[in-house]
Amino acid sequence: MQPAHPLDAVTHPDPYPYYAALASARPLYRDAALDLWVASHPDTITAVLRHPAARVRPAAEPVPRGLCPGPAGELFGRFVRMNDGALHARLKDLLAAFIREQGLQPSPPAWPRAAPLDAACVDRYLAAAPVHAQAALLGLPSAVHADCAADISAFLSALPAAAGADRVAAGHAAAERLQGRLESHLAGPRASPALRRLGSDAEQAGIAPALLAANLAGLLFQSCEAGAGLLGNALILAGRRGVPAALTPEGAQALIDDVVRHDPPLHNTRRFLAGPIDIGGQRIEAGQTVLLVLAAAAVIQPDAGWTFGAQRHACPGGDAARRHAAGALAHLLRAGVDAAALAARFRFRPLPNARVPQFDFSEDNTP
Ligand code: HEM
Repeated sequence: MQPAHPLDAVTHPDPYPYYAALASARPLYRDAALDLWVASHPDTITAVLRHPAARVRPAAEPVPRGLCPGPAGELFGRFVRMNDGALHARLKDLLAAFIREQGLQPSPPAWPRAAPLDAACVDRYLAAAPVHAQAALLGLPSAVHADCAADISAFLSALPAAAGADRVAAGHAAAERLQGRLESHLAGPRASPALRRLGSDAEQAGIAPALLAANLAGLLFQSCEAGAGLLGNALILAGRRGVPAALTPEGAQALIDDVVRHDPPLHNTRRFLAGPIDIGGQRIEAGQTVLLVLAAAAVIQPDAGWTFGAQRHACPGGDAARRHAAGALAHLLRAGVDAAALAARFRFRPLPNARVPQFDFSEDNTP
């Protein structure tokens, strides 16, 4: 059965024929049931992304209401990903330069424990490995990588509007720890030359250390869910192809890149209109939300890296994410995970935009 709508497609077993038809037949339309405009063709997505009125957050809710007031809301509100305008541009350039420079230094992560190699352990590994790799890239001591992964997981759990009071409280506590940990690291003796340079460039640009530290925590945050999807979908592909446990680094990278092309981990993002926009002869009014179906654009242009976004807010971490996923996959296969068995039984987590497999679940609990 075809996906019912573009949000349903994220967790569909094979949404790609549907995406291809959507992009060619309905490149930009209003979905009344979802109360969203939907852009799915590379041209319409690019036009929305380029428009100055298309913002990453609704004007009336720069930070999700459920996180305010408190440290989780403060952290979220500081992320470059969640801001537009001059501050975004300045921070983005500095962070992108840091990621490029730091990426040239080998920073082997202390991968999360891959034992006892059951489905539950693999699920935990998928979520934790990208954060471990990113923490290593930031130069954080390996002793705190697992704490970073646990805090990012608690922070992510607090984000949905339906999160209960206990999750939100745990998210605030995690945000406070992340902010403190990154502030100390930035000012501390273990900061790498690239990180020190980032600190002084930020100071010169008038960016406060607290804001910069929040954005370093933001790199951990950005790496997690999509990174889990990339690694998980690669594991499934490895299982289907019967790849050997002793996969070469080049083989692991090629497999990851096939996933980026043909079964990407991030399927959509959104823009909130601060003013009316005209695209392809259609007018979209201020206050509307546009769903940008990146995975549909990827069917038309598989080599364009659509899963990493485009234009002003394009992901600066794509190369790091691909490298980290290849390393994490090779480690897991070497540890002896049975990829073929995992590929035979999984479902996708019920997330609105990331395609993240889950291997440990009971059938009666299937959404
Ligand atoms: C498979 C893994 C990843 C995927 C699929 C991914 C995808 C994306 C996408 C689609 C966006 C743009 C969102 C939008 O325009 O609405 C984005 C933004 C961003 N990503 Fe990634 N990302 C991944 C991993 C990472 C990693 C490892 C880092 C850190 C090194 C990172 C850092 C960022 C940052 C800082 C932004 C915000 C950029 C801005 O707002 O200008 N991402 N990512």
